Amino acid sequence: MSEIKYAIVGTGYFGAGLGKIINGLKEAKVAAVYDPNNAEDIAKELNCDIENDVESLCQRKDVDAVIIASPNGYHKEPVLCAAKNNKHVFCEKPIALSYEDCNEMIDYTKQNDLVFMAGHVMNFMNGVRTAKRLINEGQIGDILFCHAERNGWEEAQEQVSWKKKRDISGGHLYHHIHELDFIQFLMGPAKRVSMVGGNVAHHGGQFGDEDDILLITLEFERNRFATLQYGSAFRWSDHFVKIQGTKGAILIDLQDVKVVLKTPDEEKRFLLHESKEVDEDRTRIYRGLKNDGAIMYGKPSQTPPMWLHSIMKKEMKYFHRIMQGTEIEEEFIPLLDGTAARASIATADALTLSMEKDRKVSVEEILTKEVLANDL
Ligand SMILES: NC(=O)c1ccc[n+]([C@@H]2O[C@H](COP(=O)([O-])OP(=O)(O)OC[C@H]3O[C@@H](n4cnc5c(N)ncnc54)[C@H](O)[C@@H]3O)[C@@H](O)[C@H]2O)c1
Repeated sequence: MSEIKYAIVGTGYFGAGLGKIINGLKEAKVAAVYDPNNAEDIAKELNCDIENDVESLCQRKDVDAVIIASPNGYHKEPVLCAAKNNKHVFCEKPIALSYEDCNEMIDYTKQNDLVFMAGHVMNFMNGVRTAKRLINEGQIGDILFCHAERNGWEEAQEQVSWKKKRDISGGHLYHHIHELDFIQFLMGPAKRVSMVGGNVAHHGGQFGDEDDILLITLEFERNRFATLQYGSAFRWSDHFVKIQGTKGAILIDLQDVKVVLKTPDEEKRFLLHESKEVDEDRTRIYRGLKNDGAIMYGKPSQTPPMWLHSIMKKEMKYFHRIMQGTEIEEEFIPLLDGTAARASIATADALTLSMEKDRKVSVEEILTKEVLANDL
């Protein structure tokens, strides 16, 4: 089989990590990278070219697929450019910061029959796959309610990252779209949503402008519900998803790392990652953190920890296999055509509108853009 060639837009913490993983895969090679600030060292390490802009990167004849790992607000331009140049796309999460942008990106990639995979890496955690299997086997019955928390405390920063700036990152909800995406995978798209919160404890030059408390309610068809909490104003940090069914429940704990199935008869424990060693390493990292908890962020100078590297590798392996011609499994079709990511952003947009307008919002308002006239 011939080698698949990749290009990367944005080679900071994540893009560089993905590039190193790609070069370690069989019949895969990074041909070129573009990054306005951090291309030199990684290009040397990957033994690849540096391009000076997105256009020339995407126009390269030797490139089959473009990996996009620029800051969240700068994903759209390279996705459209890659699609116009007939390149498949892997785009980091959140793929965009509005439903409209997601639509445009999906339209462009779909027109040319291209793969548009979203970097929703939770899908590649062993424990998440185990949870889905247990649910499919009927072990917890019908899912009635899910609850997720991803929060911690943020101290003053010497340098404020783009990840803390609402217009580029989207804030905690968009930046940490994983849990919302996972819950919608399990329960289907939310119908009506509400969110309260705000920036309650992080003002001034050493902080960004994102909200540090977000409290979310999702309503689904058939009287099913979910709640989520995100933010950096929580001194007691947590990171978990709890799935409550009619016959049992599942806890996916991403901080004190484990997956637990609880039924009236038993409590059974599973790994979240691929080995006990990786689970323990992740737990140790969180225990060692005095602050931040589940809201910690990587920087271009850092390399991802073992647990993150292991799921990034699984994710890239999967994308590469698809690039090599393997058929996409039914479960992964919405992950590989952008539609699952778009459904998460639609719900996030509805939640944002809910907080702005101080009312419940139907996700349909976002999908049809029929925001009530008196809201405008
Ligand atoms: N799936 C995950 O768990 C996960 C984890 C971390 C980051 N991410 C995502 O990966 C992306 C990158 O995050 P990161 O942690 O690597 O951030 P980072 O700040 O470490 O790196 C971003 C890089 O993009 C470059 N850049 C800035 N503007 C650019 C532009 N217009 N075009 C191209 N490159 C540009 C920067 O110079 C920097 O090198 C984000 O979308 C983030 O949400 C995903």
